[in-house]
Amino acid sequence: MIDSNIDRDRQDIDRSGGYGGAWASVYDRVFEHGGALEAEALGSLVAPASRIVELGAGTGRVAIPLARAGHTVRAVEVSSAMVDRLRDNLGAEDASTRARTTVVDADMRDHSETSGSADLVACVLGSISCLPDPADREGVVRRASSWLAPGGHLVVEAYDRATAVGRFGIEPLPVVTERPDGARLTSTYRLDTAADTWSVAHRWEEPRSVTQFDERVAFVEPDELAAWAEDAGLERVALLGDWYGTPYEAGENPLWVAVLRRPA
Ligand SMILES: C[S@@+](CC[C@H](N)C(=O)[O-])C[C@H]1O[C@@H](n2cnc3c(N)ncnc32)[C@H](O)[C@@H]1O
Repeated sequence: MIDSNIDRDRQDIDRSGGYGGAWASVYDRVFEHGGALEAEALGSLVAPASRIVELGAGTGRVAIPLARAGHTVRAVEVSSAMVDRLRDNLGAEDASTRARTTVVDADMRDHSETSGSADLVACVLGSISCLPDPADREGVVRRASSWLAPGGHLVVEAYDRATAVGRFGIEPLPVVTERPDGARLTSTYRLDTAADTWSVAHRWEEPRSVTQFDERVAFVEPDELAAWAEDAGLERVALLGDWYGTPYEAGENPLWVAVLRRPA
């Protein structure tokens, strides 16, 4: 029993770039501000009651507010620990939000949807950065593009390499965030320029507990991603530095947001 739990955790971490039981246990506390801003920005791209797919949906931080707003959401997630949290979070929602949300326990690298079946595909907060192989990132973008109906959008949020290099350099750098409620997150970033990745060791401390977990982040360039999507018939309509609509400038923000559209 204990071994199978360890195996499950190891499999989760390997497949997802770090999102095993430890990360899942504190994820909603770490992102306690939730995903309302992202959900509102994504919702503004689509008509009421649209069909949305989120790749790497985590605990439903963004997927659940989108379903609450009336959209039909397919939430694709590979880590079984994150899927368990997502199902728990959904359990607290009203019956119609639950009915509009499908949890798809799958790896985005081989997951498929019907061509033309989605009005929006979202892959946010660096979920694409969890894929270490560039060929997988390209494959996901190309396949997700093909699911879009005419006029549909693909929105990808990924870590900015220029910010990582410029602000964090190559020495391990601990960044400490103190919370008003006494919790503290210490994240130690290690940039590996040869592998073109960041590895981040997190330590989450609450008054009575300490939780440690790691994640690996691979970089993708906004133009590289746009080229894959454009090759699949999309056009880039915006490249932003945040969810407030600030235009992207390399090295200014930790993440960028690309909005691409299949012409109507
Ligand atoms: C930083 S979290 C973002 C979660 C969610 N999008 C949000 O905004 O809160 C990245 C998520 O992507 C998931 N993930 C990583 N690799 C994946 C894959 N190959 N297929 C599906 N999900 C994956 C992780 O397990 C994790 O839940």
